[in-house]
Amino acid sequence: MSLTSKITPSLIKATTETIEQNAEEVTALDQVLGDGDHVTNLQRGLDALNQQALEISQLEWTPAIKKIGMTLLSTMGGASGSLFGTLFISMSKAMGDKTELNSQVFADIFYQGVEAVKKRGKAEAGEKTMLDVLIPVAEKLKQGATAEDICQIAIEGMESTRNMKATKGRASYLEAKSIGHIDAGARTCQLMICAIAGILSKA
Ligand SMILES: Nc1ncnc2c1ncn2[C@@H]1O[C@H](COP(=O)(O)OP(=O)(O)OP(=O)(O)O)[C@@H](O)[C@H]1O
Ligand SMILES: [Mg+2]
Repeated sequence: MSLTSKITPSLIKATTETIEQNAEEVTALDQVLGDGDHVTNLQRGLDALNQQALEISQLEWTPAIKKIGMTLLSTMGGASGSLFGTLFISMSKAMGDKTELNSQVFADIFYQGVEAVKKRGKAEAGEKTMLDVLIPVAEKLKQGATAEDICQIAIEGMESTRNMKATKGRASYLEAKSIGHIDAGARTCQLMICAIAGILSKA
């Protein structure tokens, strides 16, 4: 598989649709553990990406991915805005002067992007955040998992946050009371990863 950035508008559209379709459920989760603004933050970023989709699709991958990151960083706000921004900006840096995005290159740059998110959020796996989806997905991609496998890994990661105690973000104020609920950021990451994997498995 080798893709050009011409695929980005369809990925942005699929991502936007899945967040739209599950907005109420995610907001309900975020009202338990956070301040209920996660979907609104994300939708602000996705709206901006939709407006820039055509422009992004005309760039080489390195500037295209950087533009995605800068757009999310400048429009989303919240903890998740800086984390998603960091993910894409670091992926773009890792891509460097390479122009061909195949499965191996994607696995490599995604892994480095997730490492940067861990540093930025000062967080690891098991802290009930989006990283409980991003870390296992990055690891399985490196091991050569297919797009279909990746959605399943993301779902398992999202589900795993239910029984964790939050130690990062606003949810950490709840301490043991955070146990029993899925993290909103883990759920949105899983939804977006499954939507993207769905398109890539047919590409
Ligand atoms: N330090 C962190 N490292 C990784 N992910 C984090 C961290 N803090 C928060 N998150 C993720 O961000 C999500 C919350 O994003 P949101 O857009 O609501 O930002 P926020 O309201 O500023 O954050 P929060 O409510 O967690 O303080 C959480 O569900 C969690 O998955
Ligand atoms: Mg919030």
